[in-house]
Amino acid sequence: MDIQTAPHSNKSLPQLPLLSIEKLSVYVQSKICLLREVSLNVQKGEVVAIVGESGSGKTTLAQAIGQIYLPGQKVELTGSVRFNGDELVGLSDSALRKYRGRDIGYVFQDPYGALNPIQPIGMQISESLTLTSDISFDEAFEQSVQMMEKVFLPNPRELFWRYPHELSGGMRQRVVIATVALLKPDLIIADEPTSALDAALQQEILEILLEQVRSEHAGLLIVTHDFSLVEKIASRAYVLDKGRVIEEGMIEELLRAPQEPKTKALVSAFRRLECQV
Ligand SMILES: Nc1ncnc2c1ncn2[C@@H]1O[C@H](COP(=O)(O)OP(=O)(O)O)[C@@H](O)[C@H]1O
Ligand SMILES: [Mg+2]
Repeated sequence: MDIQTAPHSNKSLPQLPLLSIEKLSVYVQSKICLLREVSLNVQKGEVVAIVGESGSGKTTLAQAIGQIYLPGQKVELTGSVRFNGDELVGLSDSALRKYRGRDIGYVFQDPYGALNPIQPIGMQISESLTLTSDISFDEAFEQSVQMMEKVFLPNPRELFWRYPHELSGGMRQRVVIATVALLKPDLIIADEPTSALDAALQQEILEILLEQVRSEHAGLLIVTHDFSLVEKIASRAYVLDKGRVIEEGMIEELLRAPQEPKTKALVSAFRRLECQV
């Protein structure tokens, strides 16, 4: 759908980007710069990719948007991150918590950290419903089981009561995706969301993320090193190298005529894979 003519847009006003990042820099230990003056935007209903080789700063950028850090991790941000017009840089952790979950949903590379080890996984999935609306536990249970079926978790009625350590990495990743899908956030940030999954499941999981974009008009920011995934789902991409955006554009353009050597290398890795199929 053309974003400018989306039904909810007010044609007399320029549309506010869902996410607008201006000159965002990230420092650790006061002086080490992990991300330098990154600017990017994501509109409602748009799928945008952050692409770069390992160590280019993709996860640093994804984490900086919602300022998701481990306790004790000391990170400084400069620049601006606006979500629906609200500035997030400079907010306290408790103010930021209001944006995480309902507004900005994360699907991380390592799903273990996102799950509570001492709570059954089904309870964690159903909390996205029970904590945000007044439905009964039975209703939340049924909706959770349906979502678990959608993400291909086997025997969901029984699996509901299992703990994270009893599941494989790929199953835990699907638990996180089920939780995010039920929360229906305005923006989903997915950091290598399918890297723990086998090829057959990858496609199905991408479909579930895309359904959030289509039916809920969510924005999806997908982080990956893999142009074949980018080509399947995103319309635009930003290429990161050493913490900077070195190139950006529509996917077809980047694939057809990459300008920077690092972009060319990522594209040719994808072309080689294509030839092998
Ligand atoms: N807390 C930290 N302190 C120092 N260096 C870090 C820290 N976190 C990440 N880095 C470094 O920043 C760079 C970017 O890391 P990362 O964002 O994880 O890259 P990517 O996700 O693209 O693989 C890497 O060189 C990594 O070693
Ligand atoms: Mg990473």
